[in-house]
Amino acid sequence: MSNLGSDSPKIRWMNAVRHAVGSLTLIKVTVSGTWPSVPTLRRVLGRLVDLKAGTRISLVFRHDTRDVTQNFELSEGLAELSRWLESGAASGFLRSTDAEWELNGAADGPGRLREMPRPRDLSVLGVHRTHDRVRNRTVALGGSSWLRDLGVTTPDGSVCAGKEAKFRQIHHFVEVLGALLNELQPVSDGSVRTLIDMGCGKGYLTFAAAEYLRKPGMGQWTIRGIEQRPELVERSNRAALTAGSTNLVFELGNIQDVVLASVDVLVALHACDTATDDALARGIDAGARLLLVSPCCHKEVRPQMKPPPVLEPVLRHGIWRERQAEFVTDALRTLLLEWAGYRTRVFEFVSPEHSGRNLMIAAVKRADSGEREDRARAVRELAWNYGIQTQRLAERLKFPFSTNPQYPLPSAPLRSGGENLP
Ligand SMILES: C[S@@+](CC[C@H](N)C(=O)[O-])C[C@H]1O[C@@H](n2cnc3c(N)ncnc32)[C@H](O)[C@@H]1O
Repeated sequence: MSNLGSDSPKIRWMNAVRHAVGSLTLIKVTVSGTWPSVPTLRRVLGRLVDLKAGTRISLVFRHDTRDVTQNFELSEGLAELSRWLESGAASGFLRSTDAEWELNGAADGPGRLREMPRPRDLSVLGVHRTHDRVRNRTVALGGSSWLRDLGVTTPDGSVCAGKEAKFRQIHHFVEVLGALLNELQPVSDGSVRTLIDMGCGKGYLTFAAAEYLRKPGMGQWTIRGIEQRPELVERSNRAALTAGSTNLVFELGNIQDVVLASVDVLVALHACDTATDDALARGIDAGARLLLVSPCCHKEVRPQMKPPPVLEPVLRHGIWRERQAEFVTDALRTLLLEWAGYRTRVFEFVSPEHSGRNLMIAAVKRADSGEREDRARAVRELAWNYGIQTQRLAERLKFPFSTNPQYPLPSAPLRSGGENLP
């Protein structure tokens, strides 16, 4: 952090703490002093921990004879530290991967601040997240050249200001991908597998997947990023060249008609509106074993929704209608995926604090055909109850909706070669 501004040392120190937390470069922070309201308290020590629910600040309240540990959301932890600093701290110490900041004489005035640079050899990840429930990072991406080329990290591997959420999203994505790949039946025929990222944008997640799938023991993978914007494709291919990523290629193309020879894993994150459906349909058609999508901009279903009278109070506010349209669209998608022979899971893959677009639908191809008739009936009933006439995935899978839920159930979707699924 180069510019701490002209504020008082206390404020500058606290700003440095905020920056270290926001950029995930915090190693430790300590506030020491005496607090008349809690006479036994000597210091408050903080560090970042990765919990199942996301990254948190863990604060240890060190009393004369005991420690009390509490985990806080990042913003709450910062507020807590600021509160103890303002109400009696004599000194503060902050260590991040970039530097150390020592604040002295803060109890009876603005304090004096000393900043000491640290050698920049620490990875952004892994050094400072020790906790019983810490998950091992599947990929320590801090030093990857593509992260620098795509503007996520600085040349020394620190996360750029404003890119913290993206950085977390990239890591969570890789963790989720790794966990789901473990669920697939291993394939040991030595063939090259394919992961396709539809609507890959700047390619953050495509690069992350490629790096993860180059790990020893992962087998041989080709990663294809499909994107309709030529400038992004060109930039990503340049970054791939710099990174020496030989298993990765970005292609100018459209989700609907890009040629897919074979696909093992299909990813489509935040492909807008019905592009998610197009991607899912392509994946199903190509026989992908894992589909991973994070839908956004659910525009198709909302104007069609004529909910049953009992739901009118739930839908009288615009925002509720919008949310309901999202739920219904994604519920239809999961039911259709199950009908098409997949097991589905729906979860938040980053904390809603970091991004509202955080819902993920994962679909793993089943060995058996599952409860296809039940699923087909559920699709029909859900659509009928909401007055929905068309939904893109249903259309692409040739699954007809009807205003009559008793309408005969459709058969399984057809593979392009005419072979029936699953
Ligand atoms: C919101 S961005 C998400 C990028 C990336 N998947 C991510 O999550 O970081 C959506 C991208 O999908 C691309 N896209 C949307 N519809 C597409 C289509 N039919 N074919 C190819 N690319 C598409 C857009 O150009 C855009 O770059």
